[in-house]
Amino acid sequence: MTLFLANKHILLGVTGSIAAYKSAELVRRLREAGAIVRVAMTENAKRFITPLTMQAVSGYPVHDDLFDVHAEAAMGHIELARWADLILVAPATADFMTRLAHGHADDLLTTLCLATKAPLAVAPAMNQGMWKHALTQTNRQVLLDKGVHIIGPGEGNQACGDVGPGRMTEPAEIVEKVNAIFSSGLLAGLKIIVTAGPTHEAIDPVRFMTNGSSGKMGYALAEAASEAGADVTLVSGPVNIPKPSHLEKLDVVTAQEMYETVMRKVAEYDIFLAVAAVSDYRCETIAPQKIHKEEGPVQLTLTRNPDIVASVGQLARKPFIVGFAAETEDVIAQAKAKRLRKKMDMIIANQVGSGAGMGADENAVTLISAENEISLPLMPKRKLARQLIKLIAEAFNKAERRQ
Ligand code: PMT
Repeated sequence: MTLFLANKHILLGVTGSIAAYKSAELVRRLREAGAIVRVAMTENAKRFITPLTMQAVSGYPVHDDLFDVHAEAAMGHIELARWADLILVAPATADFMTRLAHGHADDLLTTLCLATKAPLAVAPAMNQGMWKHALTQTNRQVLLDKGVHIIGPGEGNQACGDVGPGRMTEPAEIVEKVNAIFSSGLLAGLKIIVTAGPTHEAIDPVRFMTNGSSGKMGYALAEAASEAGADVTLVSGPVNIPKPSHLEKLDVVTAQEMYETVMRKVAEYDIFLAVAAVSDYRCETIAPQKIHKEEGPVQLTLTRNPDIVASVGQLARKPFIVGFAAETEDVIAQAKAKRLRKKMDMIIANQVGSGAGMGADENAVTLISAENEISLPLMPKRKLARQLIKLIAEAFNKAERRQ
């Protein structure tokens, strides 16, 4: 199983069931899979397992009170709801499912569930009679209809002595199911090559020209494509982001190296995502020794680097090409012209130079194709990447059908 949980923010809600003792193991397994886990507990959950245990296994203080001024000052409930990539409630009691199905927001956990835009998953745990009851089944259906993922329950011996459905699914299986929530399968079977980050163009042995690209947008897209089932190769300039575990990553430094790497590999790929901020120029000659200070101006002669995306656009058998345009003015007009000039299927325009976009954790973009212009508001790059991958997958499938 490929795990897509690396660096995912999972907010684990624990409610008052005997199965709460398994929540500690669930946190451990989620963290082993690379997720960052914070825990929110209901009052009744604390009768079954202590907040101290959950704090120790998660590495973060437990959230348990909607009206705690100190907790709100540290990470308020709205901030926590925004932080989550997924809210998972395990175990989820019959009472919790009822309150969620009816939109209650009278404690921290239900409030978080209503406030978040992240997917919700619940792993029910209750007596078999309660699970089978028509009211519980109605609530289950309401939650399913609202897009809540329901994990389990399993069948077997219950703590109360009954036998039947209602046991919380085992933590290992919950992790698999959560993993599947992040893996949409939209790009299953496709090969995607992504460029990310800046390039460095040497001036002398100790200096280089570069730009403010952090690689965050490109890495987020590579991860989102992989979550969507694609086989991803990431061609990365120098960045300070850990290598995503389930991707092939090829490190390059200069634009020329990025060009050669992409051109050597691109024939094998279905989609090319050109996210890198590639230097358009390099020094005509690199000084063999460190350049020392002199009186008066110093002149550097620059020469053009190859344009990677335009070169791919010239290939007889070319992949579906998605480029980016980082602009400071006339963003949409510049991006449209660039898309046509470089023969891209789509271009994603972002305004840079005003805090968002380059180097930042958030971005706002407009995705432009021959048929469409779709604007996505400012949001974290990881969230944005998932939305973009969905739109790219739809456009790719439409283009394939036309051929
Ligand atoms: O890395 P982050 O800090 O997260 O920032 C993300 C980003 C702002 C760098 C990213 O969203 C972005 O806009 N990347 C493209 C930046 C850019 O340099 O755009 P451009 O207008 O110079 O180039 C247009 C397209 O041609 C891009 O797809 C670029 O990858 C490609 N290009 C450019 C020059 C070149 N020699 N070869 C190329 O392939």
